[in-house]
Amino acid sequence: MPCSLFSDGTQTLLVSPTRMAVPSVWCLLVLQLVVMAAGPCGASVRVISRIAFGSCANQSAPQPIWNAITDFDPQLFIWLGDNIYGDNKHPFKLFGKERTIGPWKNVERFFPATEQEMRQRYEMAKNNQGYSKLRQRAQVIGTWDDHDYGLNDAGKEFSGKDTSQRLLLDFLDEAQESPRRKQAGVYASYLFGPTGKQVKVILLDTRYHRDPVFSDGTILGEAQWKWLEAEIKGPESEVTIIASSIQVISNLSATTGPMFYMESWGRFPKERQRLYKLINDSKRHGVFFISGDIHFGEISRYDCGCQYPLYDITASGLTQAVEKAVPPPLAFVVRVVAWLTPSTMRVFAPICRYRSCTYGQPNFGAIEIDWDAVPQRIKVEVRDENGDPVTGVDFLLSELHPRSMNMADREKGGYQQHCSLEIDLPWILRYRLAFLFFGTISVFVAASALLAYIIISISMKFIPKNILCILHADWTILSSQYTVLYLQHK
Ligand SMILES: *[C@@H]1O[C@H](CO)[C@@H](O)[C@H](O)[C@H]1NC(C)=O
Ligand SMILES: *[C@@H]1O[C@H](CO)[C@@H](O)[C@H](O)[C@H]1NC(C)=O
Ligand SMILES: *[C@@H]1O[C@H](CO)[C@@H](O)[C@H](O)[C@H]1NC(C)=O
Repeated sequence: MPCSLFSDGTQTLLVSPTRMAVPSVWCLLVLQLVVMAAGPCGASVRVISRIAFGSCANQSAPQPIWNAITDFDPQLFIWLGDNIYGDNKHPFKLFGKERTIGPWKNVERFFPATEQEMRQRYEMAKNNQGYSKLRQRAQVIGTWDDHDYGLNDAGKEFSGKDTSQRLLLDFLDEAQESPRRKQAGVYASYLFGPTGKQVKVILLDTRYHRDPVFSDGTILGEAQWKWLEAEIKGPESEVTIIASSIQVISNLSATTGPMFYMESWGRFPKERQRLYKLINDSKRHGVFFISGDIHFGEISRYDCGCQYPLYDITASGLTQAVEKAVPPPLAFVVRVVAWLTPSTMRVFAPICRYRSCTYGQPNFGAIEIDWDAVPQRIKVEVRDENGDPVTGVDFLLSELHPRSMNMADREKGGYQQHCSLEIDLPWILRYRLAFLFFGTISVFVAASALLAYIIISISMKFIPKNILCILHADWTILSSQYTVLYLQHK
């Protein structure tokens, strides 16, 4: 029965006629219509309503989070990069022959792996029991970030990128004849669901064509921009998810610098403006972003990029998480730092309002679209290893439609809060973390100096004069003896 193919959602419509026994004319006709509507990328006609996503998974570490993801029962899973840690690193060393940090560092901490090493790491990731179980139930698609691209923080200059592209596409079971294997970079788009309930997923490649970080150059490169413009301006879909390995909305570097900087679209202001403008000019509705990379989860929102709020749901990482990177007693310090880092874009959901609304333990993203609700709703959450939500947003699909909002409406709705950029914060607030950091260090240094001074002056007072005299005499004798020895030696 060819029509039964329609309920088999994981099939894309590359239907081989040999699979149909004696198809009825009607079924063939319907099939043909759907194939025509599906477009070149292929579309599955099962209604898609549950999507999970994640990033930053260390293939060598235990990955218990797959249980929670499988329990969520997604129809689709999206990898947002650092799907494996493919590159190698020298140990963290301040002193010694190979120094990887500090102003005196003489060796880069990260270096590329061989193809063989990368392949083994992908195999390990793919054979993970939890992930294998998910793969049997859900379709898996994805893009990359720096560590599976092959080198920490690398961009277009990285010479191993074509090998890495082949390895990623092998890991994702991309067909050998897929055009994605022939283009420069791993960007791709997918269309799921029947007319009226369509979900488009656009996977960006933020590595292959990326200029150096301080250049304010390009992230996507011209060929990918042309493609993206066609995708965004192309046929409508009820929901459009743009997946970027690095954060689009939140520009944390503006408030964590000069202590540390993170990669994000915010570091390429011209490129980010171009993205907002493209979405705004296209009048496309239902667009939001998902991202990974930063080793904690958060939801950001920007209200002045186009004519409806732009959300960016960051889920990071599946194993790599900031609070796990430090010894357990220090996890508390990480949490305080997160809480003190100002952000103009972060969404303070009711569920985390009294925490920082950043989540520094392993997490994944969960999207649920309620197509049957009237009006239709969508819920996007960051969930923990138990599958419990730690932050989330829940809105009507109709809220992501272009409409003119006047300033009064915006202020009433609290929109104002998500319109100002981090760099426009008053300096005392913007550099709060830096003041605290350098302030703490200065206080510590001053306190140590004071303590040393007090100890010395007290000991001067209490040590009897004659002992000081003896010490002094000893020193004089000793040094004269050395002088004699030295002169003799010469
Ligand atoms: C991945 O996990 C292994 C085993 O726990 C550990 O040795 C390695 O340093 C981890 N890699 C990263 C990038 O965290
Ligand atoms: C993001 O922050 C960086 C670092 O402070 C700054 O150079 C950049 O201009 C900011 N980007 C935007 C769009 O505000
Ligand atoms: C978005 O486009 C509208 C016109 O359609 C324009 O009035 C508005 O200024 C644009 N917004 C931004 C942020 O570019």
